[in-house]
Parts: sequence; structure tokens; C-alpha cells
Amino acid sequence: MVALATEQVIDVHHWNGSLFSFRTTRDPSFRFDSGQFVMIGLEVDGRPLMRAYSIASASWEEHLEFFSIKVENGPLTSRLQHLKPGDSVTVSRKPTGTLVLTDLKPGKHLYLLGTGTGLAPFMSIIRDPETYERFDKIVLAHGVRNISDLAYSDYLQNELPQHEYLGELVREKLIYYPTVTREPFRNRGRMTDNIVDGAMAATIGLPALNPETDRVMLCGSPAMLDDLCALLDARRFQASPRTREPGDYVIERAFVEK
Ligand code: A2P
Repeated sequence: MVALATEQVIDVHHWNGSLFSFRTTRDPSFRFDSGQFVMIGLEVDGRPLMRAYSIASASWEEHLEFFSIKVENGPLTSRLQHLKPGDSVTVSRKPTGTLVLTDLKPGKHLYLLGTGTGLAPFMSIIRDPETYERFDKIVLAHGVRNISDLAYSDYLQNELPQHEYLGELVREKLIYYPTVTREPFRNRGRMTDNIVDGAMAATIGLPALNPETDRVMLCGSPAMLDDLCALLDARRFQASPRTREPGDYVIERAFVEK
């Protein structure tokens, strides 16, 4: 049995009708690496109902933050979406996951490619000073259906570059690439297509993906992971879990509740 802790909700932010984020208290003894996930949940009928959630907050922050979809009939998210400050949530004490910097070989550019709530682990990674020590440029690509799904975009474009400690690194190294598939936007289309046709490289001003220089983290739906793994494999990138040692890329499924 994994030990569970009870944390209190600090605040909740609804991005649109289907996405929200919330912050909770954090036991000071709870440690995690940027990019990891924990099981979180609620007590339902006297039993914990738990799902895997990436931690979106930085490992140095005093609180924990999570980014979630809302599914009307989802066993957990139908309840979680009604969280209010002061409510209790259950958090497992054992963080885990594959989206960690130490599983990647050294490189020049780090690509964080996420669709939907697959952005969550990358929100932690881009707030980790070590990320900026290891890479010259960090590309955060977020693919969504609609503009309103671009959670954190105002924070990424306006707040984080002004952050007291991270701002300078962010301004020098972080490139945010949001792309929208189902309505007009400055970057349009699936990121897979934007990689293949060169639109992403042209917009961010970096060369095409190359295993000599680039490292990649993927987080999204099974279909997105399949397509991006195929794309990377065709370019001779080595997946890390396959080699059981640091590789050129790592992957994880984004939390989805049906
Ligand atoms: P699309 O609108 O063409 O389905 P979802 O909310 O379904 O997880 O999708 C989030 C974003 O990921 C959407 O923009 C969606 O595009 C895109 N997407 C879905 N499947 C893939 C895939 N196989 N490769 C790349 N992007 C994908």
C-alpha cells in the first residue's frame, strides 16, 4: 500500500468549460522531481478514488499544482471540478514517472511536446533552474483544439518572463509554441504536421529535429504518442526506456478520464 496524505485545496482556476487547475498545500517532507506524477483523488463512499496526475508546480514551490480536464460523467473529474478552497484531496506520497531530465542525454535543445493536459508536467520542468543549466534552448509546444484550451498561455508569455528568479533564463532560453487545430490562430495544425512540414522550425527559428543536438519529452494521448514516436524513430532518436539508460527522448501518457 502506498502511503496517502491529505492536503487542502488553496485555490481553483477554471480555464474554460473543460479545463481547470488547482493548488493544494504540500507536506514539506514530500519531495518530487520536475516532470513526475502522483496519484491524487478524493474519498468516495469511504474509499479513496485515485488517478495519476502530473505535478504542474515547480519542485521548489511550497504548494502542489495540478491541471485537469473535466469530464461530466468521469468518476473522479466530475467531482474534482467542484473543488473549493479548504476542501481535502488525497495525494499519494510516492511520485514517479519517466519525464525526468536525468533520463535524457546531454543536448543543446530540449523539446517539450504536449497536447491537452499533457502540458502539466512541462509546467514543472520549465520552472526548474536545472532545465536551463542543461540546455541552451527549451521549446515548449502545446497543441490544443481551441484557443481557450491554451491554459497558462498568459502566464507563459507575460508572467514567467518577468519572474524574479527565473525571468532572465526564461527570456533567454524558453520558446513557447502554442498550436491550435480547430479554429484560426497564429500557429495552426497538429504539431506532428508542423514538425514534418517545417512550420514549427520556421516559427521558432531552430533547425529541424536532429538527434545529434535535440532531446525530446512527449506527453499526450496514446495516438499523439504513437505518431510522435514514429516521427522521432524515423529520425533515429533513441527512446530512453528502451535502452534503460539516458536516451534522446522520453514519453508519458497525459491523464485522460473517459
Ligand atoms: P485534432 O483537433 O486534429 O484532433 P485532444 O483534446 O483530443 O487530446 O487533442 C488535443 C490536441 O492534440 C488537438 O489539437 C488534436 O488535434 C491534437 N492531436 C490529436 N491526435 C494527435 C496526434 N495523433 N498527433 C498530434 N496531435 C494530435
